[in-house]
Amino acid sequence: MKVLLATQKPFSKEAVKGIRETLEKAGHKLTVLEGYKDHAEFVKAVKTAEALIIRSDQVSAEVVKAAPALKIVVRAGAGYDNVDLDACTKHGVVVMNTPGQNSNAVAELAIGLMIYAARNLYQPGTGSELRGRALGLQAFGNVGKLVASHARGMGMKVYAYDPYVGNEIMREFDVEPVASLEDLYTQSDYVSLHIPALPDTIASVGYELLARMPKGGTLLNTARKEVIDEPGLHKILAERPDLTYIADVMPDTYEQLVVTFPGRVYATPKKMGAETAEANENAGRAAAEQIIDFFATGNSTFQVNK
Ligand code: 3PG
Repeated sequence: MKVLLATQKPFSKEAVKGIRETLEKAGHKLTVLEGYKDHAEFVKAVKTAEALIIRSDQVSAEVVKAAPALKIVVRAGAGYDNVDLDACTKHGVVVMNTPGQNSNAVAELAIGLMIYAARNLYQPGTGSELRGRALGLQAFGNVGKLVASHARGMGMKVYAYDPYVGNEIMREFDVEPVASLEDLYTQSDYVSLHIPALPDTIASVGYELLARMPKGGTLLNTARKEVIDEPGLHKILAERPDLTYIADVMPDTYEQLVVTFPGRVYATPKKMGAETAEANENAGRAAAEQIIDFFATGNSTFQVNK
């Protein structure tokens, strides 16, 4: 089968080598489109593809339409908000993700950003320690669980809110479940977001929730920029000079935020949560293996458009 690896933000060379070797060993052929500048290049490249491996690349209806032989799209990563699921389903294209494969990289970055915030964005002066502070996890999936373990290792008190995960699972991780999102924000010095961008989460974190945070609170976002209500964020940062916002997903209004609230807002230049050799290799290889298995046996375990 013809597999296209289309990554605007390329995987490491080792990861691409692993994907190629895995696919070729099973008799598939790999074409690579990396670092492309505009969507049209992607649309052109999918013409004969039967399988597609992507990262945050936009699989639009136009891409799906331009790929009549396409049977499967694997998002080498967790979030698939970049894939037009309706268009794929309509064209009989199976969409999968590779859950858990890049989670540790994201979790470690969340901890790193938390330390960065605690030490005043590395500006000279007195910062604070994380030991003894309260961390609230908004969602307790693969990333949330790892952040919890790392944070517990540093002596933090960890709370979590996730309506889809049972309290007993949280307790297994030495995490205290809270009854509501409001309670999570009220009780946490740091809140770390691990929710996907879905219709009911988009623009869901804003003024009301952030206003509940204790003095000196920090919001950490390694999830998606879309989950933040940016006007609400501006409003609460203006009202509460003690709050900080740190993100791995740059807000649309970043320049304005940085100028208006100096030293209290930071975003990485490009989303780097999954940018580790390990995460690249794990997610890339898992994507290749899922494609091989899908064509060999019809296995659709990680299908997200069922
Ligand atoms: C994910 O959803 O897996 C992460 O956000 C990583 O995305 P990326 O592969 O585009 O870096």
